[in-house]
Amino acid sequence: MTVGPPPAELHLSDHPKMTTAPPGPNSRELLAAQSELEANTVAYPKKLPIALDSARGATIRDVDGNVYLDFFGGIGVANVGHSNPYVLEAAKTQQDDLVHTIDFPTEARVEFMEALDDIVPADLSGSSKVVFGGPTGTNAVEATIKLAKYNTGNDALVGFRGGYHGGTSGSLSLSAWSSYKSDYAPLLPDVVHAPYPYPFREDRSPEDSAERALEEIREIVAGKRSGIPEPAGIWVEPVQGSGGVVVPPEGFLSELAAIADENDVLLIADEIQTGIGRTGEWFASDHHEFTPDAITLGKAVGGIGLPLSATVFDESLDTWGPSAHAGTFRGHVPAMVAGTRAIEYIKEYNLLERAVELGAYLEDRLREAADGNPFLGEVRGQGALVGAEFVTTEGVPDGDYVSEVQRRCLNKGVIVWSGGVEGNVLRLLPPLVMTDEQARVGMDIVVDTVEAVAADRTA
Ligand SMILES: Cc1ncc(COP(=O)(O)O)c(C=O)c1O
Repeated sequence: MTVGPPPAELHLSDHPKMTTAPPGPNSRELLAAQSELEANTVAYPKKLPIALDSARGATIRDVDGNVYLDFFGGIGVANVGHSNPYVLEAAKTQQDDLVHTIDFPTEARVEFMEALDDIVPADLSGSSKVVFGGPTGTNAVEATIKLAKYNTGNDALVGFRGGYHGGTSGSLSLSAWSSYKSDYAPLLPDVVHAPYPYPFREDRSPEDSAERALEEIREIVAGKRSGIPEPAGIWVEPVQGSGGVVVPPEGFLSELAAIADENDVLLIADEIQTGIGRTGEWFASDHHEFTPDAITLGKAVGGIGLPLSATVFDESLDTWGPSAHAGTFRGHVPAMVAGTRAIEYIKEYNLLERAVELGAYLEDRLREAADGNPFLGEVRGQGALVGAEFVTTEGVPDGDYVSEVQRRCLNKGVIVWSGGVEGNVLRLLPPLVMTDEQARVGMDIVVDTVEAVAADRTA
């Protein structure tokens, strides 16, 4: 199979197409059955009350026949589009042959690791090692905690305020979302959260915001008064995604890397949301002059949503032995095939460039919606990871505004998501295969909706 079909041919026709107000009768039935059977932890359908039937490219059909434009992309999973046939066909073929191998070698496994080595940030490429531990992003973060502790002999961990790294104990310890943690304390001891530069929220210039954060990090890592023993590593999202699409000022990450280096502490870039082309480079770290010691991968790395996560790190850190990090599902082979194919597809159709183009368009349109809107505080982003932060006229984070935009957009056939600890950032991360026309039609709806909510608030 040649690398195709091209992005324009991946989508369901007729979109958006609303035949019934969501949730339609079939959705209601499935939502009710779900809430009867599944735990209260179910979250997404509470915001977007629909049951799903199928999805192609940047389009999703619900069980009532409504077709939506997808600006959500499975929170950064569907970078090459839902059910991309080039990726899907290969995964299906692999499934016929072999699915589970724990960590026995297969051609697919080796090919996938070679494909990753080719695209990882500069100094890792050619000297990378991969560890697979479990199918979801948080598993990759847990692996890095062990890697950092093992290699440094230290125990303390440094994360960032607003950071999100996953829902298992170690990752949750590193995450700063207090409400997600409060019922489960104590988690890991000796974890400290430094400020992540957030110029808008701090009302400082990007330079001042970065300098303030770096000062604190120096104090935490090298100071004697931080209250923690010596740290094993610093975990940073090169763009805080769930935290509200917070993009660090230029120079911040390279200075952070210098601090880590001077203090023999590992720097781990969590690329689970930003990786595999989302921000217009293979990894968001590539936008900066530094190479992390390790990166974590999840979400889009399995091509079309097949379960896979991985940790890629410098070979000098490969000091541990067999089963130092273990797991039954140490790499799902069809997901690895899908991952390799997704990388090929991104290369073939220049989807890195597309991410930049698409993201710039989304940001422009949101800025249009910000014009004269007292509630839209800031539009920001990197590549096709875009955020618009909403606040009240008193400057208080306004999550209700975003929920209202989300609800109204859904009714008009556009799926958007939120971000930020207070849920007050409209977060857009569409499949990179979204066409110009889809982006235009979808953003017409988003912009109209943002303006309509503002008009209602000021009426
Ligand atoms: C940056 C980052 N790290 C880790 C995770 C956790 O990944 P998963 O939900 O697949 O466990 C997420 C999920 O949103 C994430 O955005």
